[in-house]
Amino acid sequence: MKLLIIGTGSMARSHALAFKKERGIDLVAAVETNAERLAAFAEEHGIPNSFDDIDQAIAWGEFDAAANVTPDPIHYPTTMKLIAAGKNVFCEKPLATEHGLAKEMADAAEKSGLINMVNLTYRASPALYKARQLVEAGKIGALRHFEASYLQSWLVGKHWGDWRTEDRWLWRLSTKHGSKGVVGDIGIHLIDFATFAAASDVASLSSRVKTFHKAPGDRIGRYKLDANDSFVMSAELANGALGLIHATRFATGNANEIRVSLYGDEGGLLIHTDGRQSSLRLCAGADVDKNNWREVKTPAPIFAVPPTSSVFSISVSRAATRSWRRRESAADRARCVLITPHPILLTCGGGYLADSRAIGQTQGAERATGGGTVPTSVLWPRWRKEFDNAEATLSGLRPPGARLPRLRCPGVDANRL
Ligand SMILES: NC(=O)c1ccc[n+]([C@@H]2O[C@H](COP(=O)([O-])OP(=O)(O)OC[C@H]3O[C@@H](n4cnc5c(N)ncnc54)[C@H](O)[C@@H]3O)[C@@H](O)[C@H]2O)c1
Repeated sequence: MKLLIIGTGSMARSHALAFKKERGIDLVAAVETNAERLAAFAEEHGIPNSFDDIDQAIAWGEFDAAANVTPDPIHYPTTMKLIAAGKNVFCEKPLATEHGLAKEMADAAEKSGLINMVNLTYRASPALYKARQLVEAGKIGALRHFEASYLQSWLVGKHWGDWRTEDRWLWRLSTKHGSKGVVGDIGIHLIDFATFAAASDVASLSSRVKTFHKAPGDRIGRYKLDANDSFVMSAELANGALGLIHATRFATGNANEIRVSLYGDEGGLLIHTDGRQSSLRLCAGADVDKNNWREVKTPAPIFAVPPTSSVFSISVSRAATRSWRRRESAADRARCVLITPHPILLTCGGGYLADSRAIGQTQGAERATGGGTVPTSVLWPRWRKEFDNAEATLSGLRPPGARLPRLRCPGVDANRL
């Protein structure tokens, strides 16, 4: 796949490094309004084509997909142009700065049939998926209360650079530059994270946001510092649970910490991630009377599946499934992949994932997807008949003659197990 990156700032560097590790992706072009940054980025990542605006890149046209890593207000105009030009888009969060614009983008992408995705990075936390599974399995009973916090401290410490002098932080503090403050920057991650874990959307909320005085005249150069720095929300979820959601950039000692606690009428879950590692603790069953929390093993690494209606195949090599323990581990990892609302085809590439656990994973995935019509299947080449049946079901979902795209699932791979 030929990929274009639009916006070449700090997050784009993470995208480029990650995409370069994937087989089958060529970074063919970069678009950026800052000429110096564009040249440095193209040189660092060996990108052969550079443009200073998206119109020029679209007129050139030699790419299949774009990673949109521009500042928040630029997502809408650029993504809409890319969709109109028939390009698949992976867009940074928040999708847009207004709900109406985000809906327009989602509708246009859906209508076009193109692959589209929003980068809510923390969805890839293994602990989050495991927590949702436990909630859905009724492990903590009916959810009653939750607490969710996202704490950063870059307005106090200089660990990520100096916000007073660097425009990558200054635009985040200014509404005129399209920022929705801490709500739009990390609140969006947190609300997504908490509601995914709770397996329930927000039904109603009230919120207080605050912008603190940070510079003389509340201004630095062209940036008026008027975007919110902290928020506190009280929310009720559709499942009836009440909770608190809050975030700030003033939490000294917390570079980037998400914590979500879920309390049901039969137990509780504590989820934590700093973006690199995630962990999960559970208090349920006999532990409830002792207030005892236990670490829950969370399968890692996670592979985030793009939210499209495409069908993917994931293969597990024979070596990876040679021993019982390895099979369990492969099945666990595959299960992570399978928890997606989209059709997945799991094959085992000549190996044998044919154990009851794997069947359990599939059933779990079917439950997670709402069951019914979702063609999630575990296939063994030696079970030819089943394979043919599943192929028949799946073929209705993809264009005639199209090959199943293959997702490489990191970890489900002989070397890593
Ligand atoms: N998913 C995550 O965890 C995560 C983390 C950080 C940032 N982000 C998101 O990534 C996006 C970029 O953030 P960042 O930290 O890299 O910001 P940044 O300011 O470092 O980089 C943005 C770049 O886009 C360029 N740009 C501005 N307008 C442009 C245009 N019209 N065409 C092309 N380039 C343009 C800027 O010059 C800048 O180089 C934001 O939407 C942010 O919310 C997501």
